[in-house]
Amino acid sequence: MMGTVLVTGGAGYIGSHACAALIEAGYQVVVLDNFCNSSPVALKRVGEICVTPPICVQGDVRDRDCLDKIFHAHTITAVLHFAGLKAVGESVDLPLEYYDNNVVSSLVLLAAMQQAGVTNIVFSSSATVYGDPPSVPIREDFALSPTSPYGRSKLMVEDILADWHVANPNWSVCRLRYFNPVGAHPSGLIGEDPQGFPNNLMPFVAQVAVGEREKLFVFGDDYATADGTGVRDYIHVMDLVEGHVVALEYICRQPGLHTINLGTGNGVSVLDMVKAFEHASGQSVPYEIVKRRPGDIAACWADPRLAETLLQWTASRSLAQMCEDAWRWQQGNPRGYA
Ligand code: NAD
Ligand code: UD1
Repeated sequence: MMGTVLVTGGAGYIGSHACAALIEAGYQVVVLDNFCNSSPVALKRVGEICVTPPICVQGDVRDRDCLDKIFHAHTITAVLHFAGLKAVGESVDLPLEYYDNNVVSSLVLLAAMQQAGVTNIVFSSSATVYGDPPSVPIREDFALSPTSPYGRSKLMVEDILADWHVANPNWSVCRLRYFNPVGAHPSGLIGEDPQGFPNNLMPFVAQVAVGEREKLFVFGDDYATADGTGVRDYIHVMDLVEGHVVALEYICRQPGLHTINLGTGNGVSVLDMVKAFEHASGQSVPYEIVKRRPGDIAACWADPRLAETLLQWTASRSLAQMCEDAWRWQQGNPRGYA
């Protein structure tokens, strides 16, 4: 056994895949989740995928007593902190909820870790901290200028972690900036289960392909990109979570403050995604070009070389695999975990 990891938000889209990857790699996993945007079924499914199921605690990361009990009951060696709210548009309408959930939860967690003497943390940050980048690919040392309360909450936690590390130089902190996670576990048992109208491209495309929605609305075809539609760095969620496992191993060997992009380095347009999904699913994905979505940028993809150098990790799964795995999940679970 490689030790016990606390995974906050472990029932969520990325957290559930991370649980599977950690257990696969030999870790014991304790999940803390309040299920505000997820289902306990996801964790049951992780239990079907893996030999040892994760231990589940239903609770809020802002609840200090709950955290203290977990740190008392288990010998936790590291924390993967996924819990938080993530809808950019919603964060504009509900800034206080976002700062409370994303920033306060992190403060409470760090204080509880400090008291328990747990010194390793991997934090889910986002490429959204870069705002509209001056050029692509985006390196970790680019200027940071998030444009939404969600993005600013991520940057605030990044700054808190940096300050915390200055005060505790022997601690290990990893701030992982994800690009666009998509796809699902190859078993088709766990995947992304957006509530209501999906904000993100891939779940929307999958719902059109399966017949749940009539057509995709493509937000603008007049960007300065090859086909005029927005370009992003889609990364298979399995690659992303494997990146977490190696990042965890790295920070346990190498105390410090680390900030690393997790992306593929490839830019894919909305229309490229539509074509790839049609090919993977054998279904047509009708679409209509509509006006740009406010706040969207033309193009965003990672320079992934730091992850390669520090972690010896690169994303290996193709766009076709992302679509095939998302399609398997969508077909097997047309209404998610419901
Ligand atoms: P998700 O909503 O599927 O998962 C988040 C989980 O955290 C959910 O299970 C939710 O119930 C739980 N949660 C939220 N607030 C909580 C709280 N206060 N206490 C306990 N549990 C709580 O989101 P995801 O896509 O898996 O994202 C995970 C993390 O990665 C988030 O921090 C998100 O901001 C970040 N991130 C996600 C993306 C993406 O595209 N999915 C991109 C960049 C960064
Ligand atoms: C969004 C978030 C970002 C977050 C990221 C990953 C916004 C403004 N940004 O980024 O903070 O880190 O998700 O979770 O919400 N598109 C369509 N039709 C759709 C949906 C999307 O054309 O129905 C286009 C978008 O205009 C964009 C691309 O598809 O060009 C990807 O969109 P999306 O999946 O929402 O991701 P991001 O915009 O990169």
